[in-house]
Amino acid sequence: MQATPIAHGEAPGKIILFGEHAVVYGHPAIAIPVFQVHARAEVYRAQTCTVEAVDLRRRVHVNRASERNPFARIVKLVCATVRRPLPPWRIVVTSDIPIAAGLGSGAAISAAIVRAMLAAFDVSLEDAAISELVYEVEKIHHGTPSGIDNTVVVYERPIWFVRGLPPEPFRVARPLHLLIADTGKPSPTKIAVEDVRRAWEREPQRYEALFQAIGDLTKQARSAIEQGQLDALGALMNANHALLTEIGVSSPELDALIETALAAGAVGAKLSGAGRGGNMIALTPKQAVSQVENALLNAGAVRVLHTTLRPMDVV
Ligand code: PMV
Repeated sequence: MQATPIAHGEAPGKIILFGEHAVVYGHPAIAIPVFQVHARAEVYRAQTCTVEAVDLRRRVHVNRASERNPFARIVKLVCATVRRPLPPWRIVVTSDIPIAAGLGSGAAISAAIVRAMLAAFDVSLEDAAISELVYEVEKIHHGTPSGIDNTVVVYERPIWFVRGLPPEPFRVARPLHLLIADTGKPSPTKIAVEDVRRAWEREPQRYEALFQAIGDLTKQARSAIEQGQLDALGALMNANHALLTEIGVSSPELDALIETALAAGAVGAKLSGAGRGGNMIALTPKQAVSQVENALLNAGAVRVLHTTLRPMDVV
């Protein structure tokens, strides 16, 4: 018989609506949780402390693993924060969030582990503190992350994010239907972010101007969302994608899916996350959702998620 867990924790996926890459350089970005996909961690009593990632077929013995092992690191960070010794637990992690696709899988897995461990210890921590713990592990995955991924998957609400500042919730005036289509091409965030950094070092003025232009679009996008201006928001997404292409992070696969979505009735589309592969997003009028979804699948998307950003998601 399957043992019953003593506690569990979950975290959603996420997408960046506006501002990726520029956010690393201090400009604002907008991200939303994606509740259609999840990471989950379950805690079972055991003899020693291990983390088992079922989908990755990996088992980590926490006290024997290297400091750079993300699973061991998050478990030790939680213990240090709540001042408890390493517990004899088997922590089982499952996730249906695609890896290296811009959907925040690494951050969500860490957040699920933190929440499960806190529940098992019967201790609570503020979201800000949980987000900080997850950020420590994001540094192992991504090098110099802005902190947007850990923030949105821990707070579980749409956020206006500026590096180093607390996230700001904002008003969503009317439901926004977004399709998230996966190119099927994994793209590690770390590599794309490092490439952009090298390009910025080579041509600082040009890249500063591109990041500034993305920051300006992001500000306009926030007011379009707050005022429910769908067409304006779509146009801003297209403009953001053009700037991301200039930065050098689009790809033929992303561009093909973006063109397909626009031709099928989306009002705007762009890559989401680090780029080079991973996912694109399309803002679609409600009546065109199935049409755009089918077009994306026919054009080779390996999967399409439909998520709706609703006014009531913001508290
Ligand atoms: O994890 P991803 O693929 O959604 O990318 C993160 C967004 C970047 O702005 C490219 C990097 C960062 O740390 O913010």
